[in-house]
Amino acid sequence: DSNFLFLFCYSTYSNKVFSVTFLSLAVAVIIPLFGAIILLKCPIDPQPISFKEPPVLTGPLEPNFKLRQAERLFENQLVGPESIANIGDVLFTGTADGKILKIENGEIHTLARLGHGPCTGREDEPTCGRPLGIRVGPKNTLFVADAYYGIFEINPVSGEVIPLVSSKTPIEGKNLSFINDLTLTRDGRKIYFTDSSSKWHRKDYSLLIMEASDDGRLFEYDRVTKEVKVLMGGLRFANGVQLSPSEDFVLVAETTMARIRRYYVSGLMKGGEDMFVENMPGFPDNIRLSSSGGYWVAMSAIRANPGFSMMDFLSEKPWIKRIIFKLLSQETVIKFVPKYSLLVELSDTGSYRRSFHDPNGMVASYISEAHEHNGHLYLGSFRSPFICRLNLKDV
Ligand SMILES: *[C@@H]1O[C@H](CO)[C@@H](O)[C@H](O)[C@H]1NC(C)=O
Repeated sequence: DSNFLFLFCYSTYSNKVFSVTFLSLAVAVIIPLFGAIILLKCPIDPQPISFKEPPVLTGPLEPNFKLRQAERLFENQLVGPESIANIGDVLFTGTADGKILKIENGEIHTLARLGHGPCTGREDEPTCGRPLGIRVGPKNTLFVADAYYGIFEINPVSGEVIPLVSSKTPIEGKNLSFINDLTLTRDGRKIYFTDSSSKWHRKDYSLLIMEASDDGRLFEYDRVTKEVKVLMGGLRFANGVQLSPSEDFVLVAETTMARIRRYYVSGLMKGGEDMFVENMPGFPDNIRLSSSGGYWVAMSAIRANPGFSMMDFLSEKPWIKRIIFKLLSQETVIKFVPKYSLLVELSDTGSYRRSFHDPNGMVASYISEAHEHNGHLYLGSFRSPFICRLNLKDV
């Protein structure tokens, strides 16, 4: 059949054309591209980690729109109010411009600064300072963890700053490079705080999470002896900390691993540790007490199921992470993180009680903490230009 012969000849011919085209393409484009990828420097040295399949969002984790009931306060008057504390109805927070703000009668005042200007963006952070965790102590003074400078006590009226722990002094030979959150005992003697990494600074948090570095630590600072003790090491992105209501243990969010660990600070279990919640539906940030005796945990990003979780996909493929960070900047990579806001309430034993969602982060975005006060949740954010307030009666 001549048609068949024609087709056969034609297809061999086109195969040849294809091979030649492909080969020249390979020589001209692909080989140099691979060469470049191999030669390019990669800022991270990723370690493989393994996850279980993320929990399916059902039961108390069932998706809803409850976080959209929140109202935005002080929009465009402040940026990145990561953590929030209150004395009466006066609110305090630390922002991206390195300031500790006092919010009273609907007005924002600058109470203190721990670093110095300019504060124009992430490259300035190390000198500008970045106040993260904030708490109120027994004498109604503020305690602040600054990512770059250390732990401070601040007078909420005069703004006087007393340094307690300096990041300049390495602890057990390792730097404090990314001080993150703190919690203190009711008598104010002990402060528990985290350093997310001894290598990466806050401005490079996406490199820390993608590298999965295991150099985060939990410390105890004694305000009488002025000693700092390492309680836990080897944490992958140690983040939010919260003492239990009876002060027998401290919870620590281990962000990269999507879990919360528990360290016993008193009682029979003193010095022991275990897992409080594993395989969470997102990467936990700050942990705060809830009025029902449990804990509010804000997720910095979610692990969708059903859906696709990029962090889970990449967890055991460090080579893909290398290629990504050879080719793209941190700012570009962050844009691929789905903007889904999730807040969960845990019981005192770590089971899920309920969850509030804002798929797409339409109202509450990039949440970092839920601080409960007077029937409302005040939602902090590591980058949004507002504080969200959610009336618990509405949800
Ligand atoms: C600790 O930080 C200092 C100052 O930033 C730096 O010079 C030093 O190399 C760091 N040490 C380690 C072990 O990384």
